[in-house]
Amino acid sequence: MGMEIDLLANYPKTKRNVKERGAEKTEEDRRIARQFGKEFFDGDRKHGYGGFNYFPRFWQPVIPTFQKHFGLTSKSRVLDVGCAKGFMLHDLAELIPGIQVRGIDISEYAIANAIEDMRPFVKVADARNLPFQNKSFDVVISINTIHNLKREDCIKSLQEIERVSRIGSFITVDAYRNEVEKELMEAWNLTAHTVLHTSDWIKLFQEAGYTGDYHWFIP
Ligand SMILES: C[S@@+](CC[C@H](N)C(=O)[O-])C[C@H]1O[C@@H](n2cnc3c(N)ncnc32)[C@H](O)[C@@H]1O
Repeated sequence: MGMEIDLLANYPKTKRNVKERGAEKTEEDRRIARQFGKEFFDGDRKHGYGGFNYFPRFWQPVIPTFQKHFGLTSKSRVLDVGCAKGFMLHDLAELIPGIQVRGIDISEYAIANAIEDMRPFVKVADARNLPFQNKSFDVVISINTIHNLKREDCIKSLQEIERVSRIGSFITVDAYRNEVEKELMEAWNLTAHTVLHTSDWIKLFQEAGYTGDYHWFIP
């Protein structure tokens, strides 16, 4: 088993009114968000990000943590599953020159609108069926993506991450540790199909045979 570790500790914290966002949401908003199209990334706030743009202040502070934890060098190969517009990969490539990066995302919109220098390295694909050979990456990272799948498909995608990674992996998923957090999560959640107690996620990781590292997104 991998370890529970917060490799995103340096990701800037956002101030948001979770309950308010929850109160405004409808099933129709969720349906639109789950298409992961333009509306989710660059549409109305109630359907997703309300503008998904590159800011170095988001991922740049996190890259040294990834670098140290996995011993990343200019010779490493890293895959981002659910890479969206490739912002994290862009910062990896900028801060660790020479590193080989690849990204996949189910969203044709995000891939078509990826940050320009990452366009050759990102493509549309599904986390349940990664179009790569066994052990073709040193490290696979997947941030807030796996939970968008139903339970059985979470297992499938964890097995895919396990299959293509050689040294390690790191994922974050929507989770809660108590009833208060569960309620907040229900209010916050727009796209996730699998939101579990942290101990149930750990059981699911074991069931999938996932041996990578992990942490939680708890609003
Ligand atoms: C909350 S966003 C996170 C994006 C990025 N990882 C980040 O942290 O900024 C979730 C991403 O998962 C992608 N996604 C959802 N289902 C997917 C699937 N089955 N395979 C690959 N990507 C998927 C969405 O298109 C979206 O880009």
